[in-house]
Amino acid sequence: MAKITASVFTSHVPAIGAALDLGKTQEDYWKPLFAGYDFSKQWMKDNKPDVIFLVYNDHATAFSLEMIPTFAIGTAAQFQPADEGWGPRPVPVVQGHPDLAAHIAQSVIQQDFDLTIVNKMDVDHGLTVPLSLMCGQQDPKTGAWPCPVIPFAVNVVQYPVPSGRRCYNLGQAIRKAVESYDEDLNVHIWGTGGMSHQLQGPRAGLINKEFDNAFLDKLINDPEAAASIPHIDYVREAGSEGIELVMWLIARGAMADVAGGKPPRVAHRFYHVPASNTAVGHLILENT
Ligand code: DHB
Ligand code: FE
Repeated sequence: MAKITASVFTSHVPAIGAALDLGKTQEDYWKPLFAGYDFSKQWMKDNKPDVIFLVYNDHATAFSLEMIPTFAIGTAAQFQPADEGWGPRPVPVVQGHPDLAAHIAQSVIQQDFDLTIVNKMDVDHGLTVPLSLMCGQQDPKTGAWPCPVIPFAVNVVQYPVPSGRRCYNLGQAIRKAVESYDEDLNVHIWGTGGMSHQLQGPRAGLINKEFDNAFLDKLINDPEAAASIPHIDYVREAGSEGIELVMWLIARGAMADVAGGKPPRVAHRFYHVPASNTAVGHLILENT
């Protein structure tokens, strides 16, 4: 049986990818940010998953405004790093897990969540920056990510976007789907995006440390309460792009305690301001 053993939560700021790709990680501005992921890179080696189920959002890269799936699961064997205007990031191709992805699609759709099945898709910074942060930089040609990745794209770009509650419930369905897969696999589920940030308009640059830290507390200790936060609170308190945080609830909903098991162990917690225009939050929760 496949099992979700841990969840990882992290912001996915594109400037972090640029800092990595341009060799700037040791600059004074970036050092404290990358130091927050030293633990995580070692943890990834010590707790190597067989598959990562990676919840992220596409930023009008693979899906333009012509077609906007609310929830899309990547079932391909490979996903190419996307060109977001400066050429693709110099990172390895992402290997998928078509068999597990197809199984999850089957199970989750049967549990009444309508997913879009995506057999071809390039993956943008929303997916590749978390991989770089957690796994370190890899040579794009000779290197590889540590395991297959199932990309799961959520629309948080164009309203209407799904509620936190729906995301949380979807996480529970994903957990059931994973646990009904026959092969013994150690699966990590990642929620990415956030924390507070607003990229345009008079409030551009908004960062709300209090909201962010209260959200991290709730996500750890009272995920039910986190799932009850309405859209307007994210946008008002965490800025227009703070709505990306609903994706964290998918990963949190897939943890054991939500299905009646024990509360997760907090393996790592990190918060840093600023990274470009964004607050960066990061958590690693382990099922015990
Ligand atoms: C930026 C973009 C993002 O998608 C994000 O999550 C945070 C920051 C940016 O362009 O700075
Ligand atoms: Fe984003």
